[in-house]
Amino acid sequence: MKIVAVANQKGGVGKTTVAMQLAAHLSRRFRMLVVDVDPQGSTTWWAENMHEHIPFDFSDDHDPAVLTRLRELDNAYDLVVVDTPGSLEDTRTLEAVLDAADYVIVPVVPEPMAIHPTLRTITQLIEPRHLPYRVLLNRVDGRIPNQYRQWQTVLNKTFEVPTFHAYLRQYVIHAHAPMLGRLVTNLTDNRRTEGSIWDITCVGFELTECLGADLHRRW
Ligand SMILES: Nc1ncnc2c1ncn2[C@@H]1O[C@H](COP(=O)(O)OP(=O)(O)OP(=O)(O)O)[C@@H](O)[C@H]1O
Ligand SMILES: [Mg+2]
Repeated sequence: MKIVAVANQKGGVGKTTVAMQLAAHLSRRFRMLVVDVDPQGSTTWWAENMHEHIPFDFSDDHDPAVLTRLRELDNAYDLVVVDTPGSLEDTRTLEAVLDAADYVIVPVVPEPMAIHPTLRTITQLIEPRHLPYRVLLNRVDGRIPNQYRQWQTVLNKTFEVPTFHAYLRQYVIHAHAPMLGRLVTNLTDNRRTEGSIWDITCVGFELTECLGADLHRRW
């Protein structure tokens, strides 16, 4: 079992979106659990809007100690995805999740204001734990030429942080998904939806590659 934390102390960068959509995509192959330790409960609200049609197990126990208990039930799940709170002040919950995690996805949006809190999360909380991680660009605007490449260069070269090669573009579908109870697994694949489905598929592929040959071979 691998525990993947989706973390960034910067709010609103897509942690909940990434956790839910990625878990849905990966549930096609793996036994998945999503844990919502964010007291804001966005993931829980989204799950409630799914009306039982949720393709993975879900825990709304906001106490991160649930992760330590999960280790004792080894083999119950292949992957556990943890949605964490976006707060610069109270880091206790996030720290407890990172203590239990095997890998961290750090979503970020291509906005200068997001950089500082993201780097702070990485240098103060992730790197001291020697956790493998990659920054995932989210809400990339497909109409701006080379936006992804420019941000990837800034993150890799200027700030020396590793990034996913995959990234998520901005789509209305993502914005409406929590309210409508939508996940990539219950979207009709058509011209309107194929970009968002493709983006999540690429992130899932890259993540299993990062997590090790054993999981990756099972795709
Ligand atoms: N790729 C995207 N395209 C369009 N809208 C998006 C995308 N990713 C996220 N959003 C929207 O942006 C807002 C913030 O996303 P989300 O709630 O996933 O961020 P978060 O990091 O979990 O926020 P918080 O720190 O408050 O928990 C939400 O309204 C979400 O629907
Ligand atoms: Mg959230």
